[in-house]
Amino acid sequence: MNPDLFNVLARNRRSVFPDQFEPGKKVDDAVIHEIMINAVWAPNHGRAEPWQFSVFTGDGLKSLADFQSELYKKEAGDQFKEITYNKLQRQPLKASHIIAVGMKRTTTKNIPEIEDIEAVACAVQNIYLSVTAYGLGGYWTTGGVTYIEKAKSFFGLGEKDRLLGFFYIGHVAIPSTGATRLPMEEKVKWVNY
Ligand SMILES: Cc1cc2nc3c(=O)[nH]c(=O)nc-3n(C[C@H](O)[C@H](O)[C@H](O)COP(=O)(O)O)c2cc1C
Repeated sequence: MNPDLFNVLARNRRSVFPDQFEPGKKVDDAVIHEIMINAVWAPNHGRAEPWQFSVFTGDGLKSLADFQSELYKKEAGDQFKEITYNKLQRQPLKASHIIAVGMKRTTTKNIPEIEDIEAVACAVQNIYLSVTAYGLGGYWTTGGVTYIEKAKSFFGLGEKDRLLGFFYIGHVAIPSTGATRLPMEEKVKWVNY
């Protein structure tokens, strides 16, 4: 372990969006495999391990694109916008891999729902950091069909479970720049009295 290296990793992790990916360049499945092992090593309350991931790649990206655009079309009603439909069709094809992020609700133990969600968010941060460590790009999106109830079953999720979004991964063509954070001191209060 090297804390200086980890400091660099944590502070330089950036969201990299699909238009910044190298079109058509695949990430090795073996790398995604390692990243997903890191994901499932996230902390979780009561050994609930409340995550359920689906990895889409190859023709799977088209399946995801078709599924989400058609579901949007069905559900949008009067709000339907051609531009959104087309984006839902096109966007997945810009990625090498997309991980659908699901929360499987713990039912065997008395764990509050928010803690199942928090554990999955920790897993997503492991994905974010791993992607950065491998020199790849990616981001978590809660757009598209994330909050459409009827989307859940496509990802193996039941009524009590939640779809928490999608993690896009690709090779970086255009790095992200210009990230800022407020000074840590504004967000952290020390109590030593
Ligand atoms: C729970 C969550 C949901 C997010 N959803 C979206 C999203 O729907 N669309 C998007 O462009 N970025 C999304 N992001 C990524 C943020 O835009 C990004 O983290 C933020 O701009 C800070 O940039 P950084 O990740 O490079 O530090 C999401 C991030 C989190 C943690």
